[in-house]
Order: sequence, then C-alpha cells, then structure tokens
Amino acid sequence: MTTTLTVALGARAYPIYIGAGLLVEADLYRPHIVGSQVMIVTNETVAPLYLDGLRTALAGYHLSEVVLPDGEQYKTLEVWNRIFDALLQARCGRDCTLIALGGGVVGDMAGFAAACYQRGVAFIQVPTTLLAQVDSSVGGKTGINHAAGKNMIGAFHQPRAVIADTATLATLPQRELSAGLAEVLKYGLIRDAVFLTWLETHMAELLTRDADALAYVIRRSCEIKADIVAADELESGQRALLNLGHTFGHAIETGMGYGSWLHGEAVGVGLCMAADLSARIGWLSETDVGRIRRLVASAGLPVEPPPDLSAERFMELIAVDKKAVDGRLRMVLLRHLGDAVVTGDVDPSHLHATLRAGSC
Ligand code: NAD
Ligand code: GLY
Repeated sequence: MTTTLTVALGARAYPIYIGAGLLVEADLYRPHIVGSQVMIVTNETVAPLYLDGLRTALAGYHLSEVVLPDGEQYKTLEVWNRIFDALLQARCGRDCTLIALGGGVVGDMAGFAAACYQRGVAFIQVPTTLLAQVDSSVGGKTGINHAAGKNMIGAFHQPRAVIADTATLATLPQRELSAGLAEVLKYGLIRDAVFLTWLETHMAELLTRDADALAYVIRRSCEIKADIVAADELESGQRALLNLGHTFGHAIETGMGYGSWLHGEAVGVGLCMAADLSARIGWLSETDVGRIRRLVASAGLPVEPPPDLSAERFMELIAVDKKAVDGRLRMVLLRHLGDAVVTGDVDPSHLHATLRAGSC
C-alpha cells in the first residue's frame, strides 16, 4: 500500500510517497522529472544495494550518476564539488533533474547542489534511511558542514517529490535505525503526546522492524513535518521547533568530529539535555524528564553526552547555533510533553547547570 502525503507549498507543493517497493516504480518518478537528463547522486554503500533498481525505473532517460564516499565527514565543500564535476562532464543543462538516493548526507548534498547548479535545477529525494524518510528528505533544507559548524552552508530548495521505499530499511544497520528513531521521538515531544505514548508501547516492534509499525511512524512523522514546513517554510517561526535537541546535538557532532557520533545519536542526547533544561526552568517535571530519558534509551540511543566535551567547549560550540539572533542564543524547550516553544530567555545559569550535569 502506498501512502501519499502533500507538502502544501502552493505552486511548489509536492508529494511524499511512502510504501514498500516504491524505489522501482517508474510511474512515480515520471511526473516529477524535468527534462531528459537525470543525475543520480548516491554513495558507495547505497549504490551496490539500490542503484540498479533505480536505473531500471528510470530507463529511457539520459542517465548519469555520481557515487560519493560514505559518511558525515565527507559532507564537505570538496566532496560536494564532485557533483558539479559530474554534472558538467555529463553536460547537464538547466532542465536536468538530480535524484538523491541515500540517507540524509546524500540528500542534503544533492539538494544543495540542485539549489546551486545553474542557479537551481529540479531534484527528487529517494531516502533510504529511517532518519531521511522521517525527516531530512522533507522540507527543503539542504547543505554541507563547515569545520566550525554543522550544516552551516546551505540553502532552502524544495524537492519535486519524496519517494520513500520502506523496504530499503531492511538493509539498514541497527545503529542507523536507532539514529532515525531520535527524530521520530522529536516529533512526539514537540507536537503529539499521544504519538509519544504510542512510541513508548511499540518501541520493541520498531527495533525489530515490524513493517506496519515502521510505516506508521514514517507517516506520522512526515505528517507533522509537512504541516510545520507548509506553515513556515523558511523558519521564521515554528519550524525552529523541529530543532528540539539539535542545539546540543550539533555541538556534540562538531565537537567530537563529524562521523564519530551519528546525527541521530547526538540528537538523542540533545533531547535529554533539552528536557533537563526545561525542568530546570520549571516547565517539565522530573517524572517527565525520566520518561524522556527512558524512551531515548529504549530506542538504543545514548542519553549522556561524551564525557570529554567540557561545559566550556559545549558553550563555545553552541554559540554558533543557527537559531541565534543578534548573537543571542535561542533554544527549543518543552513546556509539556507534546508542546515545545522557542525561547531566547534562558537564564545562563540554568544552561550552564544542564551542561555541567552532562545529561538528564
Ligand atoms: P547517512 O546519510 O550518513 O546514512 C547513514 C548510513 O546508512 C550511511 O553509512 C549510509 O551509507 C547508510 N545507508 C543508507 N541507506 C542504507 C540502506 N538502505 N541500507 C544500508 N545502509 C544504508 O545518515 P542519516 O542518518 O540518513 O542522515 C544524517 C544527515 O542528515 C546529517 O548530515 C544531518 O545533518 C542531516 N539531516 C538533515 C535534515 C534536513 O532537514 N535536511 C534533517 C535531519 C538530518
Ligand atoms: N530538521 C529540521 C528542519 O527540517 O527544519
């Protein structure tokens, strides 16, 4: 069964298709491909698994592909430039379409290349990790890392379609599955306490890859994300809520060196730290914090930040967060479970206490 959701952005609205086996369904791609030239962007891990299937689905197009090295540490300006080398070598024109086949790293890099190549060309997301299917393939945030800050260089550029083949999750390493669950927990925490309770009671099914359970969380996560993106595409307001836990998480990723902690692992700890801070300012109870910590741990995620990241270093890293306005830090915190807010009014002593405590 295929579920179709819509990201309602007027003339730039696009579908999210979710279902098993969609990768090879030629008819899903055709309406969203511009021109006859298609460049598939993928990586060295995903290519042997899924590139042939995608090539077959795209038979009839003038196809080229670029296979990038695998890993967050390659989400760099230098590696990103290889996409332009390939596009120019294949003489792709303005009327070409890029297809991102892979996880969030490939999706962010291919999307950013599509935003920039000849000042903007079409692209389609074919996410193959849980994290990419529930989050990164939707919403048009694209970009690369800088040594001093995560995702610091990028653009908003919406895909023409998202084609999420849930069958690809069968080959995903368990650690990556858990990483994707961090973003799923985020949606429950910011928007849907009922969903959060469902996650508490169905975590075992998710970890054993029950197909119905996975399909449900992908759909519910994409529904929430599509709603938020449609209301605030460029993050002038509520879209920032999608960054719950990310101020801490991005600091961990940058501080530890990209690729050492997975994005989802860093976000898992970040959710715990945001909960801790929310309790310190009197919004969450200790019971709520304990619940969040247990849920994060039950997903197979760490709940403690790396011991070698000092509170001082954490503070330096947090200072370059993209949500800062006029140099003033803004944090996403929880008023209740299922209800998040962005606030610029965090008492520095509370933030320091959270950083010193290290975890919730
Ligand atoms: P990833 O892209 O590195 O993929 C994780 C690993 O799984 C990689 O080794 C990849 O090669 C492998 N893989 C992918 N699909 C597979 C499959 N089906 N079977 C086996 N292996 C497979 O990591 P990710 O967690 O997908 O994405 C993390 C990235 O997404 C980060 O860079 C993060 O900043 C970004 N992100 C972006 C957004 C956004 O809105 N743009 C949102 C969240 C995260
Ligand atoms: N993952 C954050 C966003 O898309 O806004």
